[in-house]
Amino acid sequence: MKKVNLAVVGATGMVGRTFLKVLEERNLPIESIYFFSSSRSAGSTITFNGKEYTVEELTETSFDRGIDIALFSAGGSTSEKFSPIAASKGCVVVDNSSAWRMDPSVPLVVPEVNSHDIEWNKGIIANPNCSTIQAVVALKPLHDKYKIKRIVYTTFQAVSGAGMGGYNDLEQGLKGEAPKKFAHPIAGNVIPQIDVFLPNGYTKEEVKMIKETKKIMGSESLKITATTVRVPVFNGHSESINVEFENQFDLDELKEILKNSPGVIVQDDPANNVYPMPIYTSGKDETFVGRIRRDESVESGVNLWVVADNIRKGAATNAVQIAQELIKMWSK
Ligand code: A2P
Repeated sequence: MKKVNLAVVGATGMVGRTFLKVLEERNLPIESIYFFSSSRSAGSTITFNGKEYTVEELTETSFDRGIDIALFSAGGSTSEKFSPIAASKGCVVVDNSSAWRMDPSVPLVVPEVNSHDIEWNKGIIANPNCSTIQAVVALKPLHDKYKIKRIVYTTFQAVSGAGMGGYNDLEQGLKGEAPKKFAHPIAGNVIPQIDVFLPNGYTKEEVKMIKETKKIMGSESLKITATTVRVPVFNGHSESINVEFENQFDLDELKEILKNSPGVIVQDDPANNVYPMPIYTSGKDETFVGRIRRDESVESGVNLWVVADNIRKGAATNAVQIAQELIKMWSK
């Protein structure tokens, strides 16, 4: 297996720290590793695989040292500026921000769904939005078998999706403090707004889910609508997904397909109150599916409850899986 030089950009952030954990767990063939942040955290130290590293400030010359793969999670504007610089130095950027996701020259990848798209990267690969990743892991195998016609997404998203600031708002909010990150208190509340509103009344998060699902599934004709909601959960996004198929399906067969799909764990035993919940899926890499039942109001439809760790599968794990696929491809 080819050994690689790796960089983590945004190493001190919520997703950045999880990059480190997942990299350690998956034991990637790393020759050397570098950690970058803004000037705020530069100079601080990070322990990786038992060794201490100093965090460096990200600059235009940061990639002048033969870095093969850079995992970015430092926000859209940092990525817009620095991803092309890294790519021009021969590095492949796996970017967790939304900056490049809809660029037609950039693959948008969930390895269980479209790892083949990694091959045509030109130096930047985009990691999808967290809520989209877990949805498509569950939906792609069903689309392949029954052809999806329409999707209705309703999400229940954890505060960790808004980074450290979001996490702190819930933690401090539970002690009675006013919010700093969100427009409203999140403790004891639900906020039907994630990201900014667009002229059509949808939020950016909702439009991301709609557009990214189509791009990853390679199906522009899918009809999709979404409502995304922030809930007072520390970690782990939950989603109610209503799906309508072109073709008829057998419910037991559909459950079997999900049970045998990569990255999916079915937890569906209503008689024993078994269904996925974010406190139990936190820390896991799989996408959990339950409450699987026919939508009796349409000809051929199903309701799913889909839960995953938004910081792991929804961000860090997915990006590290892409890095692993790249290394596999280079080692052939
Ligand atoms: P820093 O610690 O210096 O602020 P989160 O989403 O959890 O808030 O984390 C954001 C991450 O992105 C942090 O590691 C942060 O570093 C990093 N970051 C923010 N702005 C920049 C920038 N301009 N250049 C490099 N890293 C940045």
